Amino acid sequence: MNITVTLELAKRLLSAGEEPVSGQQLAEEFGISRTAIWKHMKELEEMGYEIDSVRKKGYRITKSPDNLEAFSVQNGLNTRKIGNHITHLEQCASTQIVAHKLAQEGAADGTVVIAELQTEGRGRLMRKWDSAHGKGIWMSVILRPDVPPHQAPQFTLVAAVAVVRAIQQVTGLEPMIKWPNDILFGAKKATGILTELQSDADGIQALIIGIGVNVNQQLDDFDASVQDIATSLSLESGTIVNRRELAQEILRCLERYTDMYIEHGFSPLKQLWEAHSATIGKAVRARMSKETLEGIAEGITEDGVLQLRTADGKLHGIYSADIEL
Ligand code: BTN
Repeated sequence: MNITVTLELAKRLLSAGEEPVSGQQLAEEFGISRTAIWKHMKELEEMGYEIDSVRKKGYRITKSPDNLEAFSVQNGLNTRKIGNHITHLEQCASTQIVAHKLAQEGAADGTVVIAELQTEGRGRLMRKWDSAHGKGIWMSVILRPDVPPHQAPQFTLVAAVAVVRAIQQVTGLEPMIKWPNDILFGAKKATGILTELQSDADGIQALIIGIGVNVNQQLDDFDASVQDIATSLSLESGTIVNRRELAQEILRCLERYTDMYIEHGFSPLKQLWEAHSATIGKAVRARMSKETLEGIAEGITEDGVLQLRTADGKLHGIYSADIEL
């Protein structure tokens, strides 16, 4: 059975929505027999699709499996550019590595790489990112904004706002952001964002925004070393969360808020970021490579730099650190 044809058929039926498509019509469109169409339908059922075959009218998909195939994420996405091109991989070392390569090869603004499993998922500050098979959203988005390189860190904060809003929208949960872009429930982390830059003398060539969302892991799915500091949306909500709906909403929000940023600057995004912040107004410890500072996080600057006031009254600008609340 040709798997490409099977997936193309799924795509065709999904785009028809509720409307059944007859076996005869599919056979004509795909240039194969009706028996072959029927066999592809059985194949789709084995892959986890639920297919209603309405007598005399044809086939329609009533339920899709929980995977992030490009066409199922694109179906009903309705974005202008983010997600127009999606590379979906069953497995890769890191979607960041794949996205960097695609960006160097000229991939379009808004290209997305999604994997079901990452074997070497990477986090900020050279950490490893636990990326269990089919349990989360592991994706990297290539953006090509026309802004100077010093504005790149602001995109990290914009992405955090987008992911928080998407989580709220799809699950009703109320996550908080720990500077710069960890998404938390209480003290436990559910999402991390890693922004990497490709730039040259002409400025930013590409921003690679890596988003890792722990969606349906149960406690045992996490490595023992992170069980007391990690959580998932499923653990927080007590239900299984639809990864496809969430991935779509993240892409929509990412487009909405990056557009807002490009049109109106950082101010409206700064307000949104602060409204969801778990850091501002709190006593925090900022661990940096050369020193550790303790104080009150007073806010972020227009550049997204954390303002930390230490006990001696001095205000410090924190550009990169590990923050403990
Ligand atoms: C963090 O340390 O908080 C950032 C974690 C970012 C993880 C995501 S998962 C998709 C993308 N691919 C990676 O290897 N990392 C990012």
